[in-house]
Amino acid sequence: MSDPTLLTISGSLRRNSYNRMLLKEAAAAFGPARVIEADLRFPLYDADQEEAEGVPGEVSVLAEQIRTADAVVISSPEYNKGISGVMKNALDWVSRVKGPVFKDKPTVVMSANAGRTGGETGQFMLLSCLVPLQPMVLPGPLLCVAGAGDEFDEAGALTNERYRNVLAKRMEALRALVA
Ligand SMILES: Cc1cc2nc3c(=O)[nH]c(=O)nc-3n(C[C@H](O)[C@H](O)[C@H](O)COP(=O)(O)O)c2cc1C
Repeated sequence: MSDPTLLTISGSLRRNSYNRMLLKEAAAAFGPARVIEADLRFPLYDADQEEAEGVPGEVSVLAEQIRTADAVVISSPEYNKGISGVMKNALDWVSRVKGPVFKDKPTVVMSANAGRTGGETGQFMLLSCLVPLQPMVLPGPLLCVAGAGDEFDEAGALTNERYRNVLAKRMEALRALVA
C-alpha cells in the first residue's frame, strides 16, 4: 500500500511560526506519508467577489488538498483568545466550495502559543468553527504548547518530553484511523 497523504494546515503565516514547527513534528510523528503543507494566503472572504468571480483558485487548491488527503492536522495560534483571522478566513472560504470537502476527514487539531495556556481558548473556538464542516475530529488529550518560544530548539524540534508524548499519541491514533 502506498503512503497516506497527510495535509498540514497552519493558522499562522509566519515563516518561523511555532505552529508550523509543531506541524513538522506532527508529520514526523505520523510516520511515512506524503506530506502537503497548505497555504492559507487567501483574499478576505467577500460575497461580492464570490458572486462575480467564484471561489478563488487558491481556495479550490486547498479544498482539493483536503478532499484528497487521508488525514489532516491543523495547528493554529490563538489571537486575543480566539481563532486566528487567517484560519477563520480559510474555513469560511472552504465552506463555500461545493461538495463535502471536509466531511468525515480524520483530523487532529493542536496549537502553540506564547502565552501560559498554549492557545487552549482559541483551540476550542477553532473546534467550534469546524463543526459545520463536519470533519472527524479525533478526541483526545489536548495539545496546547504553552510558552512556545522556549519549547522548540533552533532546528525547530519540540524539546519538551511531555508535549512530545502527547503528540506521539495523537499521531498514532490518527495513523491507526487511516490505516
Ligand atoms: C494579534 C495577536 C494576538 C495574540 N494573542 C495571543 C493570545 O490570545 N494568547 C497567546 O498565548 N498569545 C497570543 N499572541 C502571541 C502568539 O502566541 C505568538 O505571536 C505566537 O508566536 C503566534 O504563533 P506562531 O508562532 O505560529 O506565529 C498574539 C499575537 C498576536 C500577533
